[in-house]
Amino acid sequence: MKTLLKLAAAAAAWGVAGAAHSQGNAPIKVGLMLPYTGTYAALGNAIENGFKLYVQEHGGKLAGREIQYFKVDDESEPSKGTDNVNKLIKRDNVDVLVGTVHSGVALAMARAAKENNTLLIIPNAGADAITGPMCASNIVRSSFSNWQPGYAMGVVAGQKGVKRAMTITWNYAAGAETVKGFTEGLEKGGGKVIKELTLPFPNVEFQALLTEIAAQKPDAVYAFFAGGGAVKFVKDYAAAGLNKTIPLYGPGFLTDGTLEAQGPAAQGLLTTLHYADNLDTPRNNGFRKSYALTYKANADVYAVQGYDAAQILAAGLNAVKGDLTKRDAMTAATKRDAMTAAMRKVVVDSPRGKFTISPAGNPVQDMYLREAKGNNNEFKAVAVKGLADPARGCKM
Ligand code: BEZ
Repeated sequence: MKTLLKLAAAAAAWGVAGAAHSQGNAPIKVGLMLPYTGTYAALGNAIENGFKLYVQEHGGKLAGREIQYFKVDDESEPSKGTDNVNKLIKRDNVDVLVGTVHSGVALAMARAAKENNTLLIIPNAGADAITGPMCASNIVRSSFSNWQPGYAMGVVAGQKGVKRAMTITWNYAAGAETVKGFTEGLEKGGGKVIKELTLPFPNVEFQALLTEIAAQKPDAVYAFFAGGGAVKFVKDYAAAGLNKTIPLYGPGFLTDGTLEAQGPAAQGLLTTLHYADNLDTPRNNGFRKSYALTYKANADVYAVQGYDAAQILAAGLNAVKGDLTKRDAMTAATKRDAMTAAMRKVVVDSPRGKFTISPAGNPVQDMYLREAKGNNNEFKAVAVKGLADPARGCKM
């Protein structure tokens, strides 16, 4: 009885949310919630650019519907996450949310998206819980789970004979989860993490921690930082002379979109990620050319993830011929509908290579080992083929 009442309440709530959806030929309202200020600002801008590039390549429309954008700067600030996402859901009545970069903010977005049954496409934030215990049919990622690139780098480090590694990250979900993945991969190869160092996000005072690394003399260091923080860390690591004696590894965020600013300090760094700049395929070459022409900047993994978020949305919209009311009609009864089902079934023809989406809503994709050379993260090898997130705790 209680379950029936709960279902009825949810159906009523969805009905109200559904009534607000863009009807007929009105534009589809896309709410971009991204960091436009702070250490992740460049990542947010690249995601927006990538998303808009795909839409622009399709004449400004998806499934025959114009796209109207609403924007919120989330500042990578988890404490403002719920208020910010509600601006898009309740004030702007968006049809779909696209965001964000920071895992802590994304967790707030996922909670709100679940409560309101709003579509959410995550174009970066890897919080494992979102495609784990919090998984939901209306939430899908175009990026990665934090576990994925970490696990791949752990496997590579194990193959390189690393026995004693140290890790250093910002102290929040992304840092903790990428370290977990790295540790799992490394332990498979017989190595272990001897010490985990952390500092608060977005702090960049690395000196004391670098001194500790020098004292411990591990075989390798695994570091997760991104954006402005990654630029400072890689430079400080080299300035302390550590790059000469202790190899620095990381998930690709350590060097993606940052190589120009990092200069010589980043050259030769090995990282793992689901993208490499020089993948020599017609899809990647065409994408990079189009991105460079449009934005006078080089594409990076964040631009790819934004572009692919638009592709996933297009797959869903095509399945309902651009008519979002079809989604409302079916959702209350079944919690599934043609649109969200299509957003899981799609094979995304991405600049990174084709990928599929797991039942939990996370990309199943190749993880590449890359080397920083000049301003490119160059492909070296496939580190792990078709890597699926374990989706621990997801019940769908
Ligand atoms: C995250 O918070 O999940 C994240 C942020 C930047 C790069 C990668 C992951």
